[in-house]
Amino acid sequence: FNDRVIAPSLLAADFSNIGGEVTRAINAGADWLHLDVMDGNFVDNISFGPAIIQAVHEHNDIYLDVHLMISRPDHYLDRFVAAGSDLITVHVEADHDVAETLKRIRAANCLAGLAINPATPIEAAEPYLDQIDLLLCMTVVPGFGGQSFMPEVLPKIEAAAALRKERGLSFHIEVDGGIGEKTASQCVQSGANVLVAGSSTFGAPDMAAAVTAIRQA
Ligand code: DX5
Ligand code: ZN
Repeated sequence: FNDRVIAPSLLAADFSNIGGEVTRAINAGADWLHLDVMDGNFVDNISFGPAIIQAVHEHNDIYLDVHLMISRPDHYLDRFVAAGSDLITVHVEADHDVAETLKRIRAANCLAGLAINPATPIEAAEPYLDQIDLLLCMTVVPGFGGQSFMPEVLPKIEAAAALRKERGLSFHIEVDGGIGEKTASQCVQSGANVLVAGSSTFGAPDMAAAVTAIRQA
């Protein structure tokens, strides 16, 4: 886990020019593109769905990290697979059979991610750790970009990294929400290696410099 993965979140992009914004992220050195899907029910916001992801997939080679903030990920899963997702993350708090959904994601040849909200203890994810390729520790309450990082999540990241070691597992640990140069460094010190960043990358005057700063922080 020495290599950091920087994943700009398309939620912070200019939606009037999605193609150009994806190209801008790729040229800035993004490793993955993070795609925030919100259904207006699991979170209090509506973003975009599989059609946008499919369009991005058809015109680019970048790795697609799809974060489903939706109440019924099991119901929509096949559509996000067909859209070209590489990694699909579902929330442990959503209304589905978590073990079954994770199995289906891997059976579809995608990597499987499990997300936990800031208030959700690591214990909620523990039963599934051997079924995942990535654990997403939310560092804000999901729903909106541009919120402040919650440092109280750092001990949970440390606990996740300790459990991973204890069980001989190798899932990525991703953080999402309020990530910039300073908070990225705190998260990496705690054990995270995948850094999602929306406003601090797409919103920066020089996106390449912002991505590099997060990589080197
Ligand atoms: C929050 C989303 C995040 C968001 C991050 O609900 O899951 O991916 O886009 O945005 P920033 O980096 O601006 O906090
Ligand atoms: Zn996200």
